[in-house]
Amino acid sequence: MPDRRTPLISGNWKMHLNHFEALQTVQKLSYLLDGLLDGDESAAVEVSVHPPFTDLRTVQTAIETDRMDIVLGAQHCHWEEVGAFTGEVSPAMLAKLNVAYVIAGHSERRELFAETDEMVRRKAAAILAHGMTPIVCVGETLAEREAGSTEDKVTGQVRAALEGLAADAVGGLVVAYEPIWAIGTGRTASAEDAQAVCALVRATVADGWGQQPSATLRVQYGGSVKPGNAAELMSRPDIDGALVGGASLVSEDFAAIVRASRG
Ligand code: PGA
Repeated sequence: MPDRRTPLISGNWKMHLNHFEALQTVQKLSYLLDGLLDGDESAAVEVSVHPPFTDLRTVQTAIETDRMDIVLGAQHCHWEEVGAFTGEVSPAMLAKLNVAYVIAGHSERRELFAETDEMVRRKAAAILAHGMTPIVCVGETLAEREAGSTEDKVTGQVRAALEGLAADAVGGLVVAYEPIWAIGTGRTASAEDAQAVCALVRATVADGWGQQPSATLRVQYGGSVKPGNAAELMSRPDIDGALVGGASLVSEDFAAIVRASRG
């Protein structure tokens, strides 16, 4: 069992920043994070950025040329390796660009592009099969929270997305708990509420796949994470990082969130 799960702070740029802006943003971020990501193991933090597809090659080149400690991520992919799927990008293509993390089942994909639990499951398996790590997003709507069905919704999404995966694969995964009512709204879940649902995600994994994977699985919180609330959220035992949207577009804010997440 690890003494400490290394927090993962992920910047989801969504449909923002063209490839020129992306280059500037990652360079500035790397400068601001200088010296923060290496060194003492007990304080280590991992940082990924998830640019739009058109920026991936540019950001990959910047990361590799300048030997940045930042890791490349993607926001989405198809589950098939190749084929007639107009507009889609395959996990094999992302792996070729040294993408390490791929978001699967973000609530915007589920709500705006009709992604189902079954599609998220297939994507998570395909991402793993190509040597990358899925960041599987789960979370309830405001109506579900008010109706008291947060627990059912989140456990159902976790079980559906991870169904069929081996315990050792599950242990290396990242699940992001993102209450939909907190995304882009400035409303953050309280640290207590976020901790409770992140603990529930871990318990669901323990129940379905065993104690070992539940101890190593990382659970991020996402939804209006800002420099001002990051430290409190990250101090909770079952919150192992953050999936950050809006604040990841401002390098100073994102760097401040990373700083707040160090052990
Ligand atoms: P937000 O987005 O930080 O802008 O609320 C989070 C997300 O959608 O991942």
